Amino acid sequence: MKVKRLAAEKAVEYVQDGMIIGLGTGSTAYWAIQKLGEKVQKGLNIQAIATSVLSEKLAQQLGISLISFDQIDQIDLTIDGADEITSDGNAIKGGGGALLREKIVAFASKRFIIIVDESKKVDKLGTFPLPVEIVPFGFEITMKHLSKLGCKPVLRINQREPSITDNGNFIADCRFGNIESPEKLHDEINRIPGVVENGLFIQMASNVIVGYKDGEVKDFRLFDS
Ligand code: A5P
Repeated sequence: MKVKRLAAEKAVEYVQDGMIIGLGTGSTAYWAIQKLGEKVQKGLNIQAIATSVLSEKLAQQLGISLISFDQIDQIDLTIDGADEITSDGNAIKGGGGALLREKIVAFASKRFIIIVDESKKVDKLGTFPLPVEIVPFGFEITMKHLSKLGCKPVLRINQREPSITDNGNFIADCRFGNIESPEKLHDEINRIPGVVENGLFIQMASNVIVGYKDGEVKDFRLFDS
């Protein structure tokens, strides 16, 4: 927890007065939202868009003002976690089920900072089952198409019922093992009708901030915006 918090707080150092901020989802992004809330209470002026209903509620509780896409063309900076990440910044996200909103928000952002603890770093993506958001209609056949790409999709269940995303969809968790070509797999998955989006975030991160057990925090800058 402490490590996640350190990475999150480092990312919040990039936040400047007047910015529009994308708020991630998950236990690491939680600490970024907490820190932003603290700064807002001390006078920081920002507006935010959340990547989930949960993060939106947290932001509201902390007094962070929210804005919607009809009021803006771009987000200045988004801070979010990841389930797995490689040194080039490619990541698997969606363990918390918020991947679709997370990708919409990240894609609309000038700078996208991924915050992780060192356990999320991998040489190759794919040990973590890739979350794929699928529409409920025909989900059985959509999962059969997914399995043809080399995984065994598992429908995410919550209290014996399919888990429902904030967008009213299902999640299929797809364990691929080593993903040799994330770009290719990303496109193949999204070509299946019934798939809304998958959790591969390819060449989207501008920074990856990693927290280590010994208390060190490293900020890897992949590109400047
Ligand atoms: C939410 O859908 C996810 O993409 C999270 O960002 C990701 O699962 C990381 O979560 P933690 O920070 O809780 O590990």
